[in-house]
Amino acid sequence: MPIVETLEDVVEAILKSRYLISLTGAGISAESGIPTFRGRDGLWRKYRPEDLASPEAFRNNPKLIWEWYSWRISMIINASPNPAHVSLARLEDMGILKALITQNVDNLHERAGSKNIIKLHGDILTARCISCGYKKRLDAPPEELPPKCPSCGELLRPDVVWFGEPLPTEALGAAIIHTHRADAILVIGTSGVVYPAGAIPYTVRENGGVVIEINIGESAITPIADYFVRGKAGEVLPKILDLIAKKL
Ligand code: APR
Repeated sequence: MPIVETLEDVVEAILKSRYLISLTGAGISAESGIPTFRGRDGLWRKYRPEDLASPEAFRNNPKLIWEWYSWRISMIINASPNPAHVSLARLEDMGILKALITQNVDNLHERAGSKNIIKLHGDILTARCISCGYKKRLDAPPEELPPKCPSCGELLRPDVVWFGEPLPTEALGAAIIHTHRADAILVIGTSGVVYPAGAIPYTVRENGGVVIEINIGESAITPIADYFVRGKAGEVLPKILDLIAKKL
């Protein structure tokens, strides 16, 4: 895995690509003040995922789970996209980035202006009924915890993917299509340990595509990266965009 000395190589690889996609993880939102999961101050260092992000945990104590999601929802609503999110939206507007596959549930890609976003792990700003499928957009944490479905009275739950749950069919289908079309992938701020998201860069590589990773440290993707840029996404991506803009 060649550590990139200059960003020129990465820019060349991006400009040579016909179908560039991106896979993002919690690291891209770290500079927006959203904690990652497995980083130094990561959520899973403080809490056990099975206690807060599993269907069993919700069945056992829906109020506790909603208290935790309400805390995350407030943090996310008060956060802003950072230059990394904005750079990916620009790359899409330039027609270079074809699709953005994210593991994040924080909506910061949308708020940065990205359009073709595939949310593999759902959306924390949507609540859905556990029974009738009713969905509701949240612009603030629910007042009543746990919130009830206005349509059938059952419990609402965060519309995110919990451990042990399948990914949303439509999102997974779209991710597979873009992954097999891709001849290059920008992997940004993910540990790459959660599947099936973690398999996406490997599939692009197996199909002969180029893997470009941006991360402050090595991840499970680094061994197959053609280019590894060690750095903060919010600092590295704007530099790449500026170099690209100069070449176009
Ligand atoms: N810039 C780039 N990378 C960063 C930055 C930054 N500013 N800050 C942290 N990182 C990197 C870390 O080095 C780490 O590799 O981001 C990665 C974050 O990894 P995780 O915390 O494991 O987050 P993620 O890969 O998104 O987790 C995947 O796990 O808990 C579940 O559903 C949850 O979607 C999540 C999934």
